[in-house]
Amino acid sequence: MKKILITGGAGFIGSHVVRLFVKKYPDYDIYNLDALTYAGNLENLRDIEHFPNYQFIKGDINDSDFLNKLFELNKFNSVIHLAAESHVDRSITDPLAFVKTNIIGTVNLLNSYVKYSSNELGDVFYHVSTDEVYGTLGKTGFFTETTSYSPNSPYSASKASSDHFVRAYGETYKIPYVISNCSNNYGPNQFPEKLIPLFINNIIENKSLPVYGDGNYTRDWLYVIDHALAIDKVFHEGKNKETYNIGGFNEWKNIDLVKLLCRMMDEKLNRDFGTSEKLITFIKDRPGHDLRYAIDANKIKKELGWSPKVTFEQGLEKTIDWYFENQDWIQNVINGDYKAYYNRQYK
Ligand code: NAD
Ligand code: TYD
Repeated sequence: MKKILITGGAGFIGSHVVRLFVKKYPDYDIYNLDALTYAGNLENLRDIEHFPNYQFIKGDINDSDFLNKLFELNKFNSVIHLAAESHVDRSITDPLAFVKTNIIGTVNLLNSYVKYSSNELGDVFYHVSTDEVYGTLGKTGFFTETTSYSPNSPYSASKASSDHFVRAYGETYKIPYVISNCSNNYGPNQFPEKLIPLFINNIIENKSLPVYGDGNYTRDWLYVIDHALAIDKVFHEGKNKETYNIGGFNEWKNIDLVKLLCRMMDEKLNRDFGTSEKLITFIKDRPGHDLRYAIDANKIKKELGWSPKVTFEQGLEKTIDWYFENQDWIQNVINGDYKAYYNRQYK
């Protein structure tokens, strides 16, 4: 039995990783450690919570005493670390929350891992990170694993810092580690503050679609289950001390993506073509907005044999259908402080 701690497993990507590992590896004990912040939701895992190889632990990675006790008790083999504050807009209004969880929380986890991991062959500390650590691209070029770090938002600065700490602990304390840096994910269970789920739900509710600046910003989109499959590959076959870029080979300008979504939603909602596009509202730009992200994912493709399976059209279709069928999930997560944010009027 391998004991694997997955952090942030109640969140968007984490829940898909937990589900994949629990189902695919019945001989692993999967522990899901999550503080259940606004972004964490145990509804995301109802279908697997009864599996005998799955256990949920509510806890905060900012609490080092708690982590030490947990690790001392369980002597985990490996950690797949996804717990984080993940939204760029929130990092602009509250950078310290990102410093605390993404940097200090990661260092707390590393400390417990150094002290109490089982130290067996094949064990690894795996940090799930973002392509945003590389900063921004101009109109051409791609991020590779050797692109230098140049983060522009408090979110990406905190992720860059935690990547550096993982690497430094590997050198200093000789823990085995891997890091992956992935592009923008989309799919079921994503909190409706990120572009795609926010816009799907605003279209359903006939609300404005707030596009930052002129909308000529480019992102590379990957379906979340393809990311989970890449994490499985990197976890099992990634080489010690290596970094792997993960991306969808799927670049879209925000405005083109939003127009595509509008067309797909008009069709689903039986609305006249063009109805949803009228909801587009160009608003004041996000400060420090990165112009373009594009991933060269050829290393993971060539070395580990991973590439995305789901096309963008298929993925968007599945995602739209999921949000249509799970309107109760949306209503449950839109509460507290987020309610005012979600219902804000755009200028
Ligand atoms: P998310 O915000 O949906 O989920 C984060 C999870 O972490 C939540 O369940 C939350 O409750 C938990 N968490 C937050 N603070 C915690 C704390 N102090 N202690 C314990 N748990 C805590 O995020 P996501 O989009 O699923 O991203 C997961 C990871 O993948 C993050 O590390 C993020 O940086 C990285 N990533 C995300 C994307 C993306 O497009 N979403 C792309 C590349 C990398
Ligand atoms: P987001 O989903 O926040 O991801 P990230 O900032 O990590 O890339 O945003 C994706 C892109 O969409 C980004 O260029 C910002 C833009 N965007 C808007 O134009 N309006 C919005 O309301 C949001 C949330 C994002």
